[in-house]
Amino acid sequence: EVMGEILGISEVARELEQKLGVRQVVIVPGDSDETFWVQRDIGRAAVTQLKARLAPDDNIIAVTGGTTMASVAAMMSPDKKERPMHFVPARGGLGETLELQANTVCSRMADRANADYHLLHIPDEVSQETFERMVEEPSIKNVLEMIRAARIVVHGIGEAETMAKRRRATPEHLRMIERHEAVAEAFGYYFNAEGEIVHRVKTVGIQLEELDNMDTVIAVAGGKSKAQAIAAYAKHTPNIILVTDEGAATELLTCY
Ligand code: BG6
Repeated sequence: EVMGEILGISEVARELEQKLGVRQVVIVPGDSDETFWVQRDIGRAAVTQLKARLAPDDNIIAVTGGTTMASVAAMMSPDKKERPMHFVPARGGLGETLELQANTVCSRMADRANADYHLLHIPDEVSQETFERMVEEPSIKNVLEMIRAARIVVHGIGEAETMAKRRRATPEHLRMIERHEAVAEAFGYYFNAEGEIVHRVKTVGIQLEELDNMDTVIAVAGGKSKAQAIAAYAKHTPNIILVTDEGAATELLTCY
């Protein structure tokens, strides 16, 4: 472990905060690309960050899907101070398989936290007309209002191509991502290395601009392979608390 020899892990975190210009960086030892349980440690660290920022009275927490977020859910536990938490998915369907969808992560997280949750039931592929009618349905409208009231967001960051393929993007979409040199993805938005949005998946829920007004945005992503994606996303959204691992952090400090 190069990092352990030269700088302590918290010193590296401070350096990364400077370099990326983000609010805070939290680093767990190891590299989740290489060791499975490191992702669980990222999950545990994210839960700690989330609990440290809960308001005493009421908390609506919007979450995305993905394997890292599934690890956050797996490490969730009830709040000792019993502050009320309500979990909602951050956005509508993004083409993920069931296990990786925001709805799934949301309900698991709430179960483990002993909290309640509200899900968004909007299919990924409906006509514009159906879509417009669905968002007016009272049950869906209610959840959308809760999502709009969320003050805390916890989300993953992915590599653009990996994410597009995982969501079974069309060849045309894949070519577009390549042409625009997208390197990062976060809840349905694709970014180039400069942190500019090059594509967005149209869906309801939190739009990227709204992250600026959130009290707390916790971004969870680790593994050396995600360093470039993290760097690009941080350029666009510097108000994040980044929970990552040593693998990504070392690469970020040396290469980006
Ligand atoms: C998606 C999220 O579900 O998971 C994205 O909407 C994120 O924000 C992606 O980029 C990351 O997935 P993973 O499996 O790499 O944690």
